Amino acid sequence: MIIGRDMRSEGDFMDYTTAKALLAKYKQSHMLQYYEELNGEQREELLDCIGRIDFSLFDDVFAGGRSLGELSPADVLSVEEAEARRDEFKQAGLEALKKGKVAAVLLAGGQGTRLGFNGPKGTFDIGVNRRLYVFECLINNLKDCVEQSGTYAHLFIMTSFLNDGQTRAFFEEHNYFGYDPTKIHFYVQKTSPAISFDGKILMEEKYRPVMTPNGNGGWYGSLMSSECGGILAKEGIEWLNVFGVDNVLQRICDPVFIGATLKSRLPCSGKVVKKSCVEEKVGVLCKENGRPAIVEYFEMPPEHKAELDCNGELKYRYGVILNYLFNVKALNEANISALPYHLSVKKIPHIVDGKRVEPNENNGYKLESLAVDIIGHMGGCLGVEVVREREFAPVKNKTGVDSVETARRLLVQNGIKI
Ligand code: UTP
Repeated sequence: MIIGRDMRSEGDFMDYTTAKALLAKYKQSHMLQYYEELNGEQREELLDCIGRIDFSLFDDVFAGGRSLGELSPADVLSVEEAEARRDEFKQAGLEALKKGKVAAVLLAGGQGTRLGFNGPKGTFDIGVNRRLYVFECLINNLKDCVEQSGTYAHLFIMTSFLNDGQTRAFFEEHNYFGYDPTKIHFYVQKTSPAISFDGKILMEEKYRPVMTPNGNGGWYGSLMSSECGGILAKEGIEWLNVFGVDNVLQRICDPVFIGATLKSRLPCSGKVVKKSCVEEKVGVLCKENGRPAIVEYFEMPPEHKAELDCNGELKYRYGVILNYLFNVKALNEANISALPYHLSVKKIPHIVDGKRVEPNENNGYKLESLAVDIIGHMGGCLGVEVVREREFAPVKNKTGVDSVETARRLLVQNGIKI
């Protein structure tokens, strides 16, 4: 069992004196600025909020970007190699699925700000001539696996405090899109405080800091500390297929992918696609000092970005698509409880001199840990290349690149009525 940032017990009692000392230590004393004028309930809420914040994040949050070690290309099973061993992989994957050893984890706690849709991204209707919700696409894809294996895999859905109620209600209203409701489990991801550019926790009320979802890197910690955590051991789940909400062609619990991972004997794997161009904004699966790593597009050193291999192909060509398979035992043994936080610049409404301000310009950071950082803590990671046009239709923006428009085209191209 891991402990750390995402595993803090909720509701630990925090008294005023302890809070004051803690805040002084981390230069956050302004949080108690209005304490004297708060009523009893508000004081309690404030102390409770302070008790839930992991202040150790301030030890390293401004430490700066990581310096990359020596990079080399990742071990990737190409489409052709996977195809040649398709039957063998599929059989192994189906066997694991039938035994209930594999569950899926849908990361649906994001705010989807780029899409600009008012509601959880999964509730977005991507249909044109009919209703077709993003969640519906994903469940339909997962049902392919039910058809092949004859079993409903458990599906854990991570939400955030901002969209949990709406997400649960949506699934119920739509009858879980025909999936077995007893196999769907929701849990809420943890939060982190939003901070100003000079590192002060922003307050949304005199008694309440601005808290935001803590990024998708906390998915396992939040899962294990939720009520869902016990299901894994009880049901003998050994592998978790983690995937993002915003790829409507995402293949989930794909038997070939599972089988290839099992046969590799590696503790994790990730689906990858060939980058569409040098500048594509995807993380690349690599090795860093011999260990698996995902290097984000903005981190890739210029000398490697367009580097070619002896076949004239991009040496670092395999982009990740947020579809990973993790061995549960390996996750428990890995040191993933304190992933670094990444700073994401945002406009954050907050109070100044006790009055609410809606900034027009970016004024602070949201703190997010990222699922890609978990890979570096695993003993090895197999990249499994998939055909881009069949499995990667990201819905990030309204129009343009990786948008509703491009995803619709790809759905049609794959024979899905929209
Ligand atoms: P993104 O990085 O695209 O973030 O998430 P986002 O918040 O959904 O969208 P933007 O950046 O505001 O436009 C990738 C995946 O990680 C999940 C998202 O729901 C998506 O499936 N995610 C992201 C979480 O589950 N929690 C988070 O805190 C952030």
